[in-house]
Amino acid sequence: MKWLAWLTPIVVIGLATAAQAQETGDPEAGLTYAKQVCTQCHAVLANEQLSPLLQAPTFQAVADTSGMTATALAVWLQSSHPTMPNIVLAPKDRDNVIAYILSLKR
Ligand code: HEC
Repeated sequence: MKWLAWLTPIVVIGLATAAQAQETGDPEAGLTYAKQVCTQCHAVLANEQLSPLLQAPTFQAVADTSGMTATALAVWLQSSHPTMPNIVLAPKDRDNVIAYILSLKR
């Protein structure tokens, strides 16, 4: 439950912005963006088994995590992580990439 530690301070902002994320994200644009920015560490394509950086979960695994939502992803992408660089995503890119990840859910 380590996610609780980073979730708490920013959950309010996350909720506000993620409410729009689900409606406005474009999964195809999200994939294009992910291939440019996230693929350095994450396996971004459907059904890929291993990420280039083994520590980084595949996007398929993220999507299949039970209870994974646009809100949780938006909060993750807006908070800082010791293990992942703080990539600053434009709101549109963030919404798109979230829509893409959630589209992988099996
Ligand atoms: C330099 C490597 C690196 C890059 C680039 C990177 N990540 Fe990560 N990411 C990681 C690592 C390592 C973790 C695992 C962190 C942990 O578990 O503490 C992670 C975790 C995540 C998680 C959390 C998964 C979960 O189950 O909680 C999400 C979501 C995520 N990354 C999305 C992205 C997105 C979207 C991008 C592109 C905009 C991106 N990452 C770019 C290294 C990276």
